[in-house]
Amino acid sequence: MFQRRSLLKVAAAGGAAALVPWGRLTGSTAADATQGGELAASVPFAHAMPLPAVLHPTRRTATSDLYEIRMRQVQAELVKGLPTTVRTYGGTFPGPTVNAWRGREVVIRQINELDVPTAVHLHGAHVLSQHDGLPMDTIAPGGERTYHYPNKQHAASLWYHDHAHHLEAENVYRGLAGLYLIRDPREELLPLPSGAHDIPLVIRDARVEADGSLVYTRPTDCPHMLVNGKERPYTKVTARRYRLRVYNTCVNRYIRLRFADGTPFTVIGTDGGLLEKPVQTEDLLMLGGERAEIVVDFSRYRPGTSIVLENTAALSTERPEILRFDITRTAVDLSHVPHRLTWRPPLPTPTVERSFELRTFPQMTINGQVYDPNRVDVTTRLGTTELWTITNAEAPTPAGRPDFHLWHSFHTHLTYFRVVQRNGNPAGPRDSGLKDTVTLAPGETVKIKMTWGPYTGQYLYHCHQLGHSSGGQMGRIDIVD
Ligand code: C2O
Ligand code: CU
Repeated sequence: MFQRRSLLKVAAAGGAAALVPWGRLTGSTAADATQGGELAASVPFAHAMPLPAVLHPTRRTATSDLYEIRMRQVQAELVKGLPTTVRTYGGTFPGPTVNAWRGREVVIRQINELDVPTAVHLHGAHVLSQHDGLPMDTIAPGGERTYHYPNKQHAASLWYHDHAHHLEAENVYRGLAGLYLIRDPREELLPLPSGAHDIPLVIRDARVEADGSLVYTRPTDCPHMLVNGKERPYTKVTARRYRLRVYNTCVNRYIRLRFADGTPFTVIGTDGGLLEKPVQTEDLLMLGGERAEIVVDFSRYRPGTSIVLENTAALSTERPEILRFDITRTAVDLSHVPHRLTWRPPLPTPTVERSFELRTFPQMTINGQVYDPNRVDVTTRLGTTELWTITNAEAPTPAGRPDFHLWHSFHTHLTYFRVVQRNGNPAGPRDSGLKDTVTLAPGETVKIKMTWGPYTGQYLYHCHQLGHSSGGQMGRIDIVD
């Protein structure tokens, strides 16, 4: 069990950030009063890992699947034995998974039965501006809005989450997040693990008090790691390959995943879907908003054994365990990972270059400015290919200090990008594929390129540490004809 005292020590070790009130750092109005209570005990492997509920359409037409979601407050058991009040899509934590098919429209009627405004953003989707869930395009308590998603894009692991201005971090933290998987009949022909062997892992931190209340506060005070809504669960697998869709939905921290025995695994996809070629690794660094699809071969373990997935970026006061896989029995496995997974057309040569500098201090800014929905920061023409240089302007911290608040994860709406360079070197495996979110440690610089489209209108780019975007680390891009 973790004592309040040791957590305070960590906060004190956080240096300058510890001196800045959390609320001011993040734009949150709610957080500063919350440093008090006693933590719920952290008991690993007490829950069987559930799969997120699947949402069923209320109606299907020739072209579209229609859904309805009521955002409402319910109680969920995050930590074993404790009821916790959460904000949900449709009463489940995380929200229900929407299964979409490429080329078939999804229409979701979102009804806000919460007492806070919300805006629903489909992260990773090509959608019209009025369906993008912009920060000022909110649904008032008691109101509703219908969002249209064309799904004219590759198969990929998306997610929907709240984006209401200044509220998104806390809303997502309190539960307003759910998966949205776009499938493609052509991708289904690949021999990858599928069906019951294709499993999402939605990973996030939390702080649950001994009385069950969920407290929104700085990530160094959030020691409860949840997978699919439960603290550090276990799951039974057979000795064969599995496809795991890993999401980091933490609002304010990165995770670094690794199997306890260093077992390698195969990355087959990232934010924008499958990679052209699979990549072997033992270690996965993910900041909030990022996705990785990996194939793990459990046939290397004897039935009856267990293997733990760990977070090597856990604080010294936290448990590293995230999830335990229990290997139950041998299994026939006809799946494999082909050497070539897909083909992506190369992007045209960029004709416009821009630079963006992200800062944590003295406040959350991009190029020195705080988000203003009425100020257009970037205007570009539909179809323009651009090269963006993104810099995390904070200096690196001495090793071992918690520095979550100094990291940034740069996210673009509407379009995917490719990472061209990291710190002057060609992008490595961790930056491969189509990305919509890229991680920057303090002092790092990345170059990304993207083609703006397929729609005109008002969109966003921002840091996906949602405490940062809530605090104004966000810009407006208008795409014009
Ligand atoms: Cu997932 Cu604008 O965000
Ligand atoms: Cu940031």
